[in-house]
Amino acid sequence: MDRFIAADPLAASERVAEEVLRLLAAPRPVVLGVAAGATPRMLYRLLVEARPSVGRVDVVLLDEYVGVGPLAPHSFRQQIHHELTGPLGVLDERVHSLNGLAPDPVVECEHFERLINRLGGIDLQLLGIGRNGHIGFNEPGALATSRSRVVDLTSSTREANAGAFGSAELVPMKALTQGLGTISDADRVILMAFGDAKAEALAAAVDGPVTAAVPASILQTHPNALVVADQAAARLLRS
Ligand code: F6R
Repeated sequence: MDRFIAADPLAASERVAEEVLRLLAAPRPVVLGVAAGATPRMLYRLLVEARPSVGRVDVVLLDEYVGVGPLAPHSFRQQIHHELTGPLGVLDERVHSLNGLAPDPVVECEHFERLINRLGGIDLQLLGIGRNGHIGFNEPGALATSRSRVVDLTSSTREANAGAFGSAELVPMKALTQGLGTISDADRVILMAFGDAKAEALAAAVDGPVTAAVPASILQTHPNALVVADQAAARLLRS
């Protein structure tokens, strides 16, 4: 797993933006996997400012809350629409996400896996990391081979994500997420981590053993993974 440690989140986001823009400029259809949450916000702003051509890109989201539909204001789908795909002009039919209101979540996840396959797989998957080491909503204990599925959210994740819902109790108990196996199938994976609160999780993921207790540690086994962190998140990494 390569590392790029930047002075601050802006410099880190610029590094990632460069790579995403290079991918978007490829003379072929591309599939970009995106994370919601706070970490990629600056990156998405940089991408929007760069005004790349997006005629050949499909965008695939990592996860969504169960019970939250694609049009709900606090859905990940809406976050990505407002911060990235809307301003970039990506057609809605080329943005793909798990539907938290699907009548049969198991079928929804199977369709989603098939869709990713039909698109030819994900070229570049952007990831944030939870304070408990989760990626997507693969909480500690998730299997390395897991595919898209319904998961229970831990109380620490529900607390961390309380903002959009007003309080932790209002955050759904369950989510739909790409599995660790699904994420690992991406050709390239970039894990972003900013701020002091991510330092322990990042050190465990990057320098600790590969273990289900730290889902992001699976990325150590990925042949083409990059960790991009600011100084604060990188403070516990071995040099
Ligand atoms: C979001 C996602 C999550 C977040 C992680 C970090 O789609 O899958 O794994 O990337 O919880 O969240 P932030 O960036 O808000 O600290």
